Amino acid sequence: MTITLPGGVGRNAGPILYGPEIDAAAAALRAGHYGHGPLTVRFEQQLAAFLGVPDVVAVATGTVALQLALLAAGVGPGDEVIVPSLTFCSSVQAIVATGARPVFVEVDKTSLCVRADEVLAALTPATKAVLPVLYCGRAVDLTAIQPHLDERGIAIVEDAAQAFGSDLHGRLVGSNPQLLTCFSFGPMKNLTCCEGGAIVPRTPEQATVLRRMRTVGIAQSLAQRSASTTYDVIGFGLRAHLQSLNAAIGSAQLAHFDQVCTIRRRLWHRYATALAGLPDVALTDVDIDHTIPFNLVVQVPDRDRVFHQMHDAGIGVGVHYPPNHLQPAFAAWTTSLPVTEQIGARVLSLPFHPSLPVDDVDQVVAALRDALHG
Ligand SMILES: Cc1ncc(COP(=O)(O)O)c(C=O)c1O
Repeated sequence: MTITLPGGVGRNAGPILYGPEIDAAAAALRAGHYGHGPLTVRFEQQLAAFLGVPDVVAVATGTVALQLALLAAGVGPGDEVIVPSLTFCSSVQAIVATGARPVFVEVDKTSLCVRADEVLAALTPATKAVLPVLYCGRAVDLTAIQPHLDERGIAIVEDAAQAFGSDLHGRLVGSNPQLLTCFSFGPMKNLTCCEGGAIVPRTPEQATVLRRMRTVGIAQSLAQRSASTTYDVIGFGLRAHLQSLNAAIGSAQLAHFDQVCTIRRRLWHRYATALAGLPDVALTDVDIDHTIPFNLVVQVPDRDRVFHQMHDAGIGVGVHYPPNHLQPAFAAWTTSLPVTEQIGARVLSLPFHPSLPVDDVDQVVAALRDALHG
């Protein structure tokens, strides 16, 4: 039985709690094994079965998933990684953490995702990876340029933080063996561990390297370490494992995942219908038949005023995202991106989460209409 969480129109984003997570978390606490352990391994196996892939490596967050996946793809100092500026800053921080340079590119005006032609135009001899962001959960199709990227030894590391459960032409995001896919299971995500993330490795070697890097560089598994007087630290590593408690919550969520898919799609359709009556408002095209939408992003004129008026009226609005090429931390790699700058000034996220009663969508859209009319 789903548990009602604080929500309504005042909240911009949020999780769903199906109920069994509470017992699962309590059982994990009672088991007395709080770090990486059997519950984490079980969650990895469940994710792999869901995606239909041989292996999944669970980690602490989506941000560290991206960092480790880039490292596993061989990205390092002197390399360039192509990334849309319109993303959460984590996508860029993960690149910077490897010592590589982010190369910011534009996004498509209707999907707000990168396009293959923009990626091609940004390639240089230093390009080592492309990091498409699956904005709002929509899959990004780079298959047309995949052979070209392969030929040049350029990896695609997908930022699918928002896209667990979505598909590309019927193939689940995460199941394409040519891509390294990274998920987030953070607090707001369609599937949450409270905090968590995962990488889908493409070779057993990559999986080994990723597991070592998430465990401070130690080569041996927990079982091997407990039977030995020593261990080998054989490379870079972080304390980046997924804790048992979080894995237990993730497993409980995964068992009911179809429910959130239905709820989110229903909400999205209700918004699409209600927003159709507002000619000034452009709804982001998430390719809804193939996407479990993560958020509801529109573009509106006079966004800042509309944002504040709605916020003052108690509506949980948000902005996803202030463009990264304009952020102080990334000033060294800034460039001119007029399309992104225009979109960045117009995007507005409306309340979109499983605790939002579908009938409350009309109240949000009425508040938007009022705000647009001043
Ligand atoms: C597009 C994108 N990339 C990366 C991340 C980072 O994931 P996490 O918060 O789990 O570190 C997020 C999470 O908000 C995200 O939305």
